[in-house]
Parts: sequence; C-alpha cells; structure tokens
Amino acid sequence: MLTLLVTGSCLLLAFKCVKVLPESSTLGPIPFPEDNPMTLEKIELGRKLFFDKRLSVDNSISCADCHHPEKAFTDGLAVSNGVLGRHSERNAPSLLNSAYLERVMFDGELKTLEMQVIVPIQEHVEMGSDMRELLKELRAIPEYEAAAQRIFGRSFDPWVLTRSIAAFERSLISDNSAFDRFYRGDSSAMTASQQRGWELFNNKLYCTQCHPAPHFTTYKVANNGLYADYGKDQGRFRIDLEESSKGFFKVPSLRNISLTAPYMHDGSFLTLKNVLQHYKSGGKNHFNQSPTVVKFDLTVQEEEDLLNFFQSLTDTTYLQNFQ
Ligand code: HEC
Ligand code: HEC
Repeated sequence: MLTLLVTGSCLLLAFKCVKVLPESSTLGPIPFPEDNPMTLEKIELGRKLFFDKRLSVDNSISCADCHHPEKAFTDGLAVSNGVLGRHSERNAPSLLNSAYLERVMFDGELKTLEMQVIVPIQEHVEMGSDMRELLKELRAIPEYEAAAQRIFGRSFDPWVLTRSIAAFERSLISDNSAFDRFYRGDSSAMTASQQRGWELFNNKLYCTQCHPAPHFTTYKVANNGLYADYGKDQGRFRIDLEESSKGFFKVPSLRNISLTAPYMHDGSFLTLKNVLQHYKSGGKNHFNQSPTVVKFDLTVQEEEDLLNFFQSLTDTTYLQNFQ
C-alpha cells in the first residue's frame, strides 16, 4: 500500500509530500461554480497572487496582510490597515472554509468568491489599485502570463485573476479540530469540560439557531442585537435600504474563533468573554434584533466550559501548507 496518510492537501507517498486537491470529511463536498473547477495549478497561481503585494497601488500590501494564515486568515485588528495609512471600515473575516459561503461579505451581498476578488483590489481604503493598470502590470510578469496561458488558454485578464484567487480560497479547508475528531466519533478528542460546553452550546442555549454544527453558521444574515443604534454601518441595509435589513450582518462561523479576535463586524469585542457577556445580557434590543437572542445566566463553571468548548474549534493543521 502506497498511501500512508492524507493530511490537508498533502498526500504522503513514500515519505514525499505530493499535493492533492483538498477535501473535507466533516463539512461535505467543496462546492465550486461550474465554470471554475479546482486544479492544483490554478490553486497555486491563486496562492501566488494572494501573497503578491504588487496587487496594491503602491506595492505595499497583499491579500495576506489582512488575511494572515497564522491568524486563520484574519489580521488581529478591529479594522484593517489598507494602503497609504487608510483603514477599512470592518473587521477582516477568516477565509477558512470560505468555499461554503452562500453570500460573501458582512452584508451578505456578493454571490461568489470570484465576484469578491476585485472588491479589495479596487477599494480605496484597502489595496487602491486601478484594475486596468494592474492587469497591464500583471500581464507583463512572464511567470503570470505563462501560467494564464497554460491553465486558462488565454492572456492574463480579470477572468484569470478572479478564477485563480477564488480557487485558492476554496482550497482553504479547516476541519481537523478536536471538535471534528469528536464529531466523527472519537469521544476522547474533547476534554470533559469541552464536552459540557458543547452540550450547553448545542442543547441548552440558543446559539445553534444561527451557529449550528458542523459549519457553526447558517451562512445567512441576522441581527444579534449588538447595538440599539448601529450608527454609520447598518449592515445589509446598505445594500437594499430596507428598514427591516438594519443591523443584519453575515453570521460568522465560530470555527477557529480563538484565533480570530477581535470580534464582530467592527471588531468591538476584544475577547470571547466579552462576546458571552453580550449574549448573556440579552442584546441591546435593536428593533430588528432576533427574538432568539434573550438574556440568560451562566455559573462560573458553565462559562469556563463554554470558553473551553470554543478552544476545541481550533484547527491549525491547514497551516502546514503555508510553511
Ligand atoms: C486592507 C485589508 C484587506 C485586504 C488587503 C484584503 N481584504 Fe479581504 N476583507 C477585508 C475586510 C475588512 C473584509 C470585510 C469586508 C466587508 O464584509 O464589508 C474582507 C472580506 C473578505 C472576504 C469575504 C469573506 C466573508 O466571510 O464574507 C473575502 C473572500 C476576502 N476578503 C478576500 C480577499 C482577497 C482575495 C484579497 C486580495 C485580493 C483581500 N481580501 C484583500 C480586509 C482586506
Ligand atoms: C440570531 C442569530 C444569532 C444567534 C442566536 C447567536 N448569534 Fe452569534 N453572531 C450572530 C451574528 C449575526 C454575528 C455577527 C455580528 C456582527 O458582525 O456584528 C455573530 C457573532 C458571534 C461571534 C463573533 C464571531 C466573529 O468572528 O466575530 C461569536 C463568538 C458568537 N456570535 C457566539 C454566539 C454564541 C455563543 C451564541 C449563543 C449564546 C450566539 N452567538 C447566538 C448571530 C447569532
């Protein structure tokens, strides 16, 4: 037998790492649009572009500067630092398991990862590039032009840029946390406290209305009562100007949550303890607040169990592809 072990996207064949297409045993088949099947070459081109600072107007930042692999593809800041000392309005979300997103961005606005790629590149407060100028520049880089011809049979253009980066993002799978091993049947994978926390989260509290296992999100938008008045950023309201959309934001997955502080669309909570405090208080009673978000009490032990359970959602095995 030649196959020794498949870890992440690495197949160990006679002690040599041979890249294979990613798959997930917990999360289900990785969805992809018909016009953009994943291939190893395409993922590799997308990965190079993702880490390439030349995508920003002054060659100062890459996608990875706001989506660092070691922080589960977030940046540890409340709002991100863009080009020329500018700041984004929102907190950078994790890109792990982004293949499964039904709608991309906090407003739940964009339908595909392909459509999202050009947003940060052209966004004034993020990478600030002019797409036409940028494409000229990228086409002139022999490595990129050759890859575009080889993989897509065309010159380096918006299609090549968006398809390859999106394919790379879909390859970022994280499904090997202690929780995943427990979920797949290994009852010793989680500590007793983590199992008590999981029980609370799953059966006693109402969290699973919006953060159900195994994805820990419904992939929909919701209003969790973060503010009584959301001020400048009213979430999905920005898109459709409906009163009933005020304060609706994408429900984030809680996977790797201990790596992605600070929390919420504006990074306003520094710790998971602060997040729990918010839910325990029953929210700020915004007029669109979900009726599921209601006040509850936790004993000291229960709170510790929940926080320990959050730790069990951490999986850093994906990092082996970035060393
Ligand atoms: C200056 C920091 C910054 C840079 C550079 C940046 N991003 Fe982001 N990214 C963000 C922020 C902030 C958001 C949240 C924006 C929102 O939802 O309105 C985001 C959201 C996203 C999302 C949506 C994820 C979700 O859960 O909905 C994807 C996908 C993404 N970025 C990919 C990329 C790619 C690809 C690049 C490079 C082409 C990139 N980002 C460059 C900060 C950045
Ligand atoms: C009605 C749906 C809903 C319910 C119920 C709900 N959440 Fe959330 N949760 C959200 C939304 C929406 C956000 C993002 C809000 C934002 O960005 O402003 C969020 C954010 C979070 C975050 C921060 C994630 C991040 O990456 O920033 C954590 C942690 C969290 N919820 C935990 C919980 C826990 C624990 C419970 C149960 C006590 C719970 N949630 C119940 C909708 C919900």
